[in-house]
Amino acid sequence: MKKDETVFSGRKNRRSFLKNGVVAAGAMTAGAGLLSGSSTFADSDDRVNLTKGDIAILTFLAALEQVEADLWIQYAELGGPTPAVPSSFGLSPIDLVQNGKKIVTGLAPAYITGLQVLDTDMPQYIADNTDDEISHHRFLNNYLASKGARTVDLSSFAIIPPSRVSGVPQNGRLTNLKQLTVDTKWWTRYRSATQNPDFGGTFQNAVPDLAKGQHPAIPESDDDLTLDKNGNISTHLQAIANTAGFHFGFIEQGGSSLYPTLAQKVTNAEVLRILLSIGPSETMHFQVWHDKAGNAQILTDGALSFPDLNSGNNPNGGGGTQQENADSFQTNLIMPEPTFFLHKGLGPVSIIRPTSEAGGGGAVSAVVGFAEDGLFLDPATGQNTGIVAKLMGLAEAADDARRGF
Ligand SMILES: [Fe+2]
Ligand SMILES: [Fe+2]
Repeated sequence: MKKDETVFSGRKNRRSFLKNGVVAAGAMTAGAGLLSGSSTFADSDDRVNLTKGDIAILTFLAALEQVEADLWIQYAELGGPTPAVPSSFGLSPIDLVQNGKKIVTGLAPAYITGLQVLDTDMPQYIADNTDDEISHHRFLNNYLASKGARTVDLSSFAIIPPSRVSGVPQNGRLTNLKQLTVDTKWWTRYRSATQNPDFGGTFQNAVPDLAKGQHPAIPESDDDLTLDKNGNISTHLQAIANTAGFHFGFIEQGGSSLYPTLAQKVTNAEVLRILLSIGPSETMHFQVWHDKAGNAQILTDGALSFPDLNSGNNPNGGGGTQQENADSFQTNLIMPEPTFFLHKGLGPVSIIRPTSEAGGGGAVSAVVGFAEDGLFLDPATGQNTGIVAKLMGLAEAADDARRGF
């Protein structure tokens, strides 16, 4: 079985990022202590001792959810709802809070204009996805603490400067959304009727240019937000919004595979329940973003083109009949196409893919995928920050978990 096709990327050398990361200082903080008492955790059996493996899985997920929260907060700050763009703002208040601090959203109305080409509800969806990730990280840490296990806080790795758009809090971040190399092979992976990464299947990008070079998914400064004399946003800003649209799908399809892959290693029924309950919320996100990415405006901005995926042509060039290309790229084919699973003799079935470590669904693959995506690039050094080494250690422990241990 091929090991080089990760859910986040198809590239080889999955551990090369360890070399690029500064050796991590410990970022685990001591747990808040055992929060016992059935009044605090009415549905949680705090008498159960978790296995080392279950704790490793929960710890890794708590860490990765903090990364997800960090990147989504940046998207929400710039592209979330704001009264300044009435179409982005409903009657339901935006109540994004992290560590007791309110997150201001929608600081870049022109970016919102670009995002709303994909769907007018994009700002609300971005805020809600952000809320969900913050809650995933918080819940997993609270649960670990309730079992007397150590919680995770990666804040010491928050050294990446955020967007300089006016109003964005200038504290360091865990993730870099300004130099992304977005893998878009998930697009064809979910459309294939004959390939499954768990069987070593290989897939093509939907937006080949996004998978090479470095592209911003957020406006970097107020300069990016300048309107032309007709009041329209620039092609470059629309390209930034399009990039975000595909990046949303990339992030959330990864979570959609990670949770079921790790769930197979869980021992405790309650921990299994946690993974089976959070994982599908990632898939709900993915499904929305998958649909919206197909509305990205067809355009060319320098070396970055967003192709017409409904043309019957293959955006990667090469051959294929019109029907083959439509099967692989048509924008409304967002339900998981039935493909082979477990054993080819069982016939095709509509499923999440991959759901194996070998197929790229595991924790190490998740970290490699995020790193290859450029999420942890320190612009000052061009290298990954130390968070990669830290996450890789947690990921290896999670992938090594086995039921009963
Ligand atoms: Fe999440
Ligand atoms: Fe997510």
